[in-house]
Amino acid sequence: MKKAIFVKTTSMYKHLISASILNADFLHLEDEIRMVNDSEADLLHLDIMDGVFVPNLTFGFPVIRQIRSVAEKPLDVHLMIINPDRYLEAYRDAGADWLTVHYETCTHLHRTIQNISELGMKPSVSLNPHTDVSLLENILGDLNMVLIMTVNPGFGGQKFIPASYDKIRKLKKMITKKGYDTRIQIDGGVNEGNIAGLAEAGVDVFVAGNTIFSADDPTAMIHRLKHSGN
Ligand code: DX5
Ligand code: ZN
Repeated sequence: MKKAIFVKTTSMYKHLISASILNADFLHLEDEIRMVNDSEADLLHLDIMDGVFVPNLTFGFPVIRQIRSVAEKPLDVHLMIINPDRYLEAYRDAGADWLTVHYETCTHLHRTIQNISELGMKPSVSLNPHTDVSLLENILGDLNMVLIMTVNPGFGGQKFIPASYDKIRKLKKMITKKGYDTRIQIDGGVNEGNIAGLAEAGVDVFVAGNTIFSADDPTAMIHRLKHSGN
């Protein structure tokens, strides 16, 4: 009797993992970035905070440039700053590949998105937990990605907000209805216990910080997040 032969021709793992270094060991940042380089993570997520839009501060251009010199994954830069328009070119020059601005910080969001694209970066808009996804309807087709915050921005290691599921499903419907290829990213409180259900709800890109960098074996954790629910 012939044995059945199974040949896996394509990858079944469709969601992307963006590793956030917010809670990494900054005294050994190069080692942390090299760990991400050698892992199954797809992107390196950098949280930029100004102490005004969010109640915390992180790092500026010289640090991003140095991270860029070591990182082998595209830089997924999440701006939590007011008036991001002033700095779009500077973030591009520092090494940003994907650039996210917050809906709540942009008066002329359409113009901001066009500028990000013209500078050669992939544009994305982030929504705070209280901001409805329907507000993006008129620019959805121009976006590489929508980032739904699943915690209030400012800190790593917070608890996932369950009401985010409805926002994800609603946004997924809006994107599917129009036939766009806009991705859905979520950021905050992602872990091994919720990632499969969230992928099922429609999330394409998962930011994970604390879950990765507080794990005993961060590389193995990235592997498990990457393969959850598939
Ligand atoms: C929060 C940041 C997140 C943060 C997520 O404002 O935008 O990127 O690193 O952290 P975890 O995965 O620890 O919730
Ligand atoms: Zn972030």
